[in-house]
Amino acid sequence: MNDPLVYLNGALTPLSEAKIPVLDRGFIFGDGIYEVIPIYQGRMFRAEQHMARLERSLAAIRIANPHTRGQWMELIGRVVTAHDAHDQMAYLQVTRGVAKRAHAFPKEAVTPTVFIMTNPLVLPSAEVRAKGVACVSMEDTRWLRCEIKSVSLLGNVLAAQHAADNDAIEAIQFRDGFLTEASSSNVWVVKEGMLMGPPKDNLILEGIRYGLIEELCAARHIPFAARRISRAEVLAADEVLLSSATKEILPVARIDGQPIGNGEPGPVYRQLYAAYQAAKAD
Ligand code: PDD
Repeated sequence: MNDPLVYLNGALTPLSEAKIPVLDRGFIFGDGIYEVIPIYQGRMFRAEQHMARLERSLAAIRIANPHTRGQWMELIGRVVTAHDAHDQMAYLQVTRGVAKRAHAFPKEAVTPTVFIMTNPLVLPSAEVRAKGVACVSMEDTRWLRCEIKSVSLLGNVLAAQHAADNDAIEAIQFRDGFLTEASSSNVWVVKEGMLMGPPKDNLILEGIRYGLIEELCAARHIPFAARRISRAEVLAADEVLLSSATKEILPVARIDGQPIGNGEPGPVYRQLYAAYQAAKAD
């Protein structure tokens, strides 16, 4: 039976034996945060940036970071080396811990629950990349603290299911007529050679690929702007791209059945994807 080793609260344990109490505030309230880190050839990609975001998420919900960066790297490394796959995705989650159910933070000291697992990193196939993917659009009905990588993901879950119900890979969300992000990816728009992304504010999760894409644009002389992007601009774009730890950079061919540009992956996608692959190999 496939029963991978995971890390839970101080020890490596088979996944089937990793258990948490039902009063864990992550279970009861979704009171916790997480990270997803790609591992290429056994090495964490953009590790420092993921650690910095983990620290920001913990600070935002006022959980004292249970580990130093060095300790986190060591713990993730232990789980990674317990697996054969060269390319993995590490998932780590910290919740406020176990306490009698009451909404406000427990008054007594509680120990945060720390969980780390890895799975093989399954990237979109060359065939999917060559065609581009289908997306649907929808109103963004999530809360206003989307910059926190919170495990309270019901809004994202419902958006992802809306996409699945419509045979689409992602749901691209709009708030008051402006692009925010997809259910588990950032969204990018290309018009006349310029790449645009929504501002880094409370309405989106700042993907670790956000900063990377800014760097890649600067290095490859692709003009870049962070600004509010209307629904009409998205639908009239030359190219639309998705980015995330598990999708890397992925071209969107259709939104709501309508082709984006000529309905095929475009030149800015190809440049950025090649640059991304080069960055991985560094
Ligand atoms: N999701 N926006 C949302 C809402 C996300 O959930 C994600 C990532 C991103 C992209 O962030 P990054 O570039 O750091 O992967 C943007 C991860 C992969 C997940 O929840 O599985």
